[in-house]
Amino acid sequence: GNYIVQKWSNISAFCPDPSDMLIATYPKAGTTWTQEIVDLLLHNGDEEACKRASTSDRFPFLEIQYPPPIPSGLDLLKNMKPPRVIKTHLPIQLVPKGFWENKCKVIYVARNAKDNLVSYYHFDRMNQAQPQPGPWEEYIQKFMRGKVAWGSWYDHVKDYWKEREKRNILYLFFEDLKKVAWVPHAFRSGVSNRIVQLTSFKNMRDNPMANYTFIPKIMFDHSISPFMRRGEVGDWTNHFTPAQSQMFDEDYARQMADVDIPFCTSI
Ligand code: PPS
Repeated sequence: GNYIVQKWSNISAFCPDPSDMLIATYPKAGTTWTQEIVDLLLHNGDEEACKRASTSDRFPFLEIQYPPPIPSGLDLLKNMKPPRVIKTHLPIQLVPKGFWENKCKVIYVARNAKDNLVSYYHFDRMNQAQPQPGPWEEYIQKFMRGKVAWGSWYDHVKDYWKEREKRNILYLFFEDLKKVAWVPHAFRSGVSNRIVQLTSFKNMRDNPMANYTFIPKIMFDHSISPFMRRGEVGDWTNHFTPAQSQMFDEDYARQMADVDIPFCTSI
């Protein structure tokens, strides 16, 4: 967090090329999955081409700043020619203006709050670069109040939603990506069928260029919880007690009263 703040003026001044694309998400909403789908689409389903480098090297993470010598997102961008597919978790208000001025293509991916929270909880356990989540019960409260890295899930999904038409944002849902796998193979062309297979949870979990095992264990400890953890819709039912679920839903109704975003919590 501190590193990002120190470099904020550089991040905010970053000017993309009009050919650059932005994949924006709240953390754990399906970023890596969407990145892999987009990369395969750009490479016409060429599996080997999409294994040319790790997820982190293929998709510069705009605002990320690590202690030196680990390259920051801006360092990677400096050494990469457009068109680039850029990752961000920034809320829409903080996305550098250049993306809008240059009319870059923006994809936003949202995931239902409870599964997003569960995924974030386990990620914070394994990610040694972020504060530990603490007890589950308290983590729910922190998430509800936006006291986690990148802030409030509620504001994040709402603010992109409200702007999606004006700013021409493709607003996708994790749950819809899951449903794509239902379309019978016969209805899909060769390449799209291949992309669905290559981006299945199992394939991505076993893909060393996508599963984040390329990050040193001192930062991501997959033995605590793997980055590619479950990839399901509805895993929240294995975590929330009925009382926690009810409390969460009541607060959700209040925080989301001003929008009608069609989230789905089971498929
Ligand atoms: S990050 O750190 O913000 O970039 O994380 P992000 O990639 O957004 O989210 C990680 C969760 O996405 C799941 N995932 C997938 N689910 C289904 N299919 C595929 N192919 C896939 N790839 C990643 C990943 O398992 C994390 O969710 P959970 O629920 O924790 O398993």
